[in-house]
Amino acid sequence: MTDSLLSIAVLISGSGSNLQALIDASDRDELGCAISVVISDRPDVFGLERAAQAGISTEVVDWSDHDSRASFTSSVCDVAERYDVRGLVLAGFMRILSPGAMVRFPNAIINVHPALLPAFPGARAVDLALEYGATLTGVTVHFVDEEVDHGPIIAQESLPVYVGDDAVSLHARIQKVEHRLLPEVVAAFGRGDLTVEGRRVRWRQDSTEETDS
Ligand code: GRF
Repeated sequence: MTDSLLSIAVLISGSGSNLQALIDASDRDELGCAISVVISDRPDVFGLERAAQAGISTEVVDWSDHDSRASFTSSVCDVAERYDVRGLVLAGFMRILSPGAMVRFPNAIINVHPALLPAFPGARAVDLALEYGATLTGVTVHFVDEEVDHGPIIAQESLPVYVGDDAVSLHARIQKVEHRLLPEVVAAFGRGDLTVEGRRVRWRQDSTEETDS
């Protein structure tokens, strides 16, 4: 079964709760992809323990061992290619990959972002939504392109910002959505259901709906 699944690498920088959601979906045979390797940009993060616990190979490509973003990116891609993966899933990966990664994995790098892009890009998305006074925020899962938090949007889901929210309470509710949405998108990617047309991402069921109507 696993042999026929599309092979992916999951890139992390921290606690790896999104990685855990991917592992759990895989355990339920709902991921449609096999996680061949988990790559972290730093050692000693809890996500690496989660991967090891699940019997998944782990690799550290230490950001501090590299003198440029391009050389870091190239090392990450080299490791991923060694595992023969067909896609990269950035699950709480806090580094920006240089364009070389998109050349080596075209339309095959997926990122999860804790806001409704194009609102609140960058590493402070949850804080920025609160500071701005937004009453709605959400989760975006998108393909990665050469600009930060910018590539074609695959899925988005909104959620309300409550008056009493702080960054912790809001991020906790956002993560609940992430943990459901990211595995759903990765499963669609694994099935080959996603097609990129310019900035639009079509899900295979989209064309069925058009034919039916
Ligand atoms: C997630 O909220 C993700 O959207 C953001 O960083 C967080 C990582 O969480 N980029 P985790 O490491 O998956 O727990």
